[in-house]
Amino acid sequence: MKSFTSVSDVDNLEELVNRALRYKADPFADKSLGQGKRIGLLFFNPSMRTRLSTQVAASNLGMEAIVFNVGQEGWTLEFGDDAIMNGTTVEHVRDAAPILGNYFDILGIRTFPGLKNREEDYSEHYLTQFIRYCGIPVVSLESATLHPLQSLADIITMTELSRNGRKPKVVLTWAPHVKALPQCVANSFAQWVNAWGQAEFVITHPEGMELSESFTKGAIITSRQDEALAGADFVYVKNWSSFTNYGALANDPSWMMTPQKLAIANQAKVMHCLPVRRNVELSGAVLDSPSSVVTQQAGNRVWSAQAVLAEILKTL
Ligand code: CP
Repeated sequence: MKSFTSVSDVDNLEELVNRALRYKADPFADKSLGQGKRIGLLFFNPSMRTRLSTQVAASNLGMEAIVFNVGQEGWTLEFGDDAIMNGTTVEHVRDAAPILGNYFDILGIRTFPGLKNREEDYSEHYLTQFIRYCGIPVVSLESATLHPLQSLADIITMTELSRNGRKPKVVLTWAPHVKALPQCVANSFAQWVNAWGQAEFVITHPEGMELSESFTKGAIITSRQDEALAGADFVYVKNWSSFTNYGALANDPSWMMTPQKLAIANQAKVMHCLPVRRNVELSGAVLDSPSSVVTQQAGNRVWSAQAVLAEILKTL
């Protein structure tokens, strides 16, 4: 693996999941693999899980991780190809990225969509520019359209919890929220579940909240949340803003996940990438019940990151 920005960078998903589970059983099995190597972690947006789990993963591999919260501590970078920089931007990515490539062996980057211009967000302009100019492997810590380290942790979690030989029914259900969020977690989850190929996959959302078909193709899609939930083994709850009416917020409280709704599922395990808005996306009663696996899921972010970093380190 040279870089990690989507499931397309994974040669063998089952092997990657198994590697992650081996690290979970024995975190320091490869404690010298990253010796003498450094990863730079650039955050244009805040993070708790991604930042800390990647730092722990790097440490488990004997690698140093250095965090730069660009969004809070840095100046505004310029990404325009032929920009005349007489405005508010201070440094061009063409100048900054090679320096980062000089300091580090791997670069992790979290960017965020503006949710104003769909074409620009879906071109992954910021991530692509770093990849082009830094000259070292890049790991997406969440991009404008995808969140692959989260999705790998999601697949690890479902693998752990579905060892009864039967294909589980996995339901991704839209949830209300108070602010417009990216589609990246939902896009990415759909992409990875499709690549995993081990589930009956259903996506449910209100009319107008369709995701890009390029990620959802292969899933059953319905606006009947009750029908989708019937017999579900895993229920992944997530808000996203509109893809069609790009970036528009919808906040229909009738879509909040509750114990009453889950009654028709198959004793489903409830997932969410976190952070979660309690009693908006999911009721507290669901989050505090044994059905919720969100802590296990977030814990698996370490093994997800460790498996990916190890794959890249082997190529250096
Ligand atoms: N799920 C996730 O990416 O969490 P953070 O935003 O805290 O990194």
